[in-house]
Amino acid sequence: MSLLELRNISKSFVGNGYRVNAVKNFSMSLEQGESVAIIGPSGSGKSTVLNMAGLILQPDAGEVLLNGKAAESLNDARRCALRNANYGFVTQDYALLEDDSVYNNIRLPLLYHKAIPRKEHKERILRASCSLGVEDKLRRPVSKLSGGERQRVSIARALVCDQPILLADEPTGALDQSNKEMVMDHLFKLVREQGVALLIVTHDLSIAERCDKVIELVSGSIMNEGDRIRNTIG
Ligand SMILES: Nc1ncnc2c1ncn2[C@@H]1O[C@H](COP(=O)(O)OP(=O)(O)O)[C@@H](O)[C@H]1O
Ligand SMILES: [Mg+2]
Repeated sequence: MSLLELRNISKSFVGNGYRVNAVKNFSMSLEQGESVAIIGPSGSGKSTVLNMAGLILQPDAGEVLLNGKAAESLNDARRCALRNANYGFVTQDYALLEDDSVYNNIRLPLLYHKAIPRKEHKERILRASCSLGVEDKLRRPVSKLSGGERQRVSIARALVCDQPILLADEPTGALDQSNKEMVMDHLFKLVREQGVALLIVTHDLSIAERCDKVIELVSGSIMNEGDRIRNTIG
């Protein structure tokens, strides 16, 4: 049984006079300690897949199974509880509270995570901020940070609860080379040493190359799939 399985999921967006078939019949599985990259051009459905994997969007068809259990039939409260217990999520737009401090932003998921005692919060926030190199900015409001610093804060926030699955949507797009390497080394260390399951959307082939598996999306469908990118483009 996989930690996470997406079984033939599809999603369309319908608006005033348009319909976009964003994801068509997508399947994949993710195991503990495994890293999978999703690559593909802009608009190919990568973020939509990630949002369905993270129980943020409901698929129109197909199933998302978490530890073998289908998430579709659950009510909102139960889905929300499952999401908090199982996923750290780095969203493409960071989704930080601009006027609040770095400390409070990183703390946010801890407030919803029922199993982590309050007395652990501070230590966890310090540890996550140190691992992303933002520990000297904890008192600063997010609005005063650079793009790269914001991105690192959003990653620290996704790691603070140590959930078993990490979903990351282009988590290094705003980082310079040395920060990118520092962040990715840390994420792969979590995969290797703590068995975190990483599902990462990236444009960066050097990151995809380090993952166990690469899935290439084109127009919402899987174009190519392989154990490492050399197999998919070579
Ligand atoms: N909420 C939405 N409403 C309407 N269309 C959407 C919505 N979200 C995504 N789309 C469309 O679905 C397609 C896939 O989007 P997305 O998953 O964001 O692609 P990617 O992350 O690969 O750039 C795009 O054509 C996009 O415009
Ligand atoms: Mg996207």
